[in-house]
Amino acid sequence: MARTRVLIDTDPGVDDAVAILLALVSPEIDVVGVVTVNGNVPLEKTALNARRIVALAGRYDVPVAAGCAQPLSEPLGEDSVVHGHDGLGDLQWDEPAVALDPRDGVELMAELIEEGPLSIVAIGPLTNLAVLLQRHPGIDKRVEHLVIMGGASFQGNVTPAAEFNIWADPEAARVVFDAAWRITLMPLDLTHQAFLNDDDLAYFNGLGTEVGRRTAAMLEPYAQFHDRWYGNRDVIMHDAMAVYELLDPRAIEKQGVRLAVEVEGVHSRGATFIDRRREHARNHVRVGVSVDNDRFRSLLRERLAAYRD
Ligand code: BDR
Ligand code: CA
Repeated sequence: MARTRVLIDTDPGVDDAVAILLALVSPEIDVVGVVTVNGNVPLEKTALNARRIVALAGRYDVPVAAGCAQPLSEPLGEDSVVHGHDGLGDLQWDEPAVALDPRDGVELMAELIEEGPLSIVAIGPLTNLAVLLQRHPGIDKRVEHLVIMGGASFQGNVTPAAEFNIWADPEAARVVFDAAWRITLMPLDLTHQAFLNDDDLAYFNGLGTEVGRRTAAMLEPYAQFHDRWYGNRDVIMHDAMAVYELLDPRAIEKQGVRLAVEVEGVHSRGATFIDRRREHARNHVRVGVSVDNDRFRSLLRERLAAYRD
């Protein structure tokens, strides 16, 4: 079977890092580019982190380019420390042996779309995709599949109403959801079903490889954050769900919906309103509803174990 060509649009981010490592080693997909965006940490750091992860995977053939440094309208405030000050749990890294591609990230996306069928995994704020649509009207129709991690049906994680990736740039999210591409969305109510525990961290560390050790080390402070925030150390694998959808499309149950993004609102800026009524069952936007965490964890363990030093 032909491998799906994939571009990853990301703001690493510890869970982004796990998602990228999973994607880069998986035979079902062919990652042809990584583009970064301002999000968990500023653009300069997300670009450096993406280079670190691609180098860790030994995938020197995959271009890493920087996209948008600011959201479409309101700049993000203070750096988030959910993922550490550097965005990857504040470990020590050598200068990565993957250079930053000099192309503008949004233009790299456009080039890769023109070159052939492409799926996009978007696991950060949606600024790059909105700018892509603005600069290249109609390009949405040329993308095979857009899988997004973002949004929430019932409870946000930055505010009670909003999930981080949508909240960070709601105007961009609105542009993206109003376009015509085939979208599959992994909202918080799905991603909270997918998590790793201390056994998984010990398993990765015990692999005895650089990927295994670093994955466990990046996940440790993220587990501590979850403990402080939610009261237990289960680490939620938000972004890996968007990659998982392309590896095993039957693993995640989905339903067609209509989706609207709140760009105003006193308490609700960045909220997603997901209309699940049956009249939208065949819509071009679908959301993930349920996932089997044990099946996901065992796939992730198997795939990360395939990395060799
Ligand atoms: C999303 O926000 C980021 O902190 C994570 O990397 C993920 O993409 C979850 O709300
Ligand atoms: Ca992310």
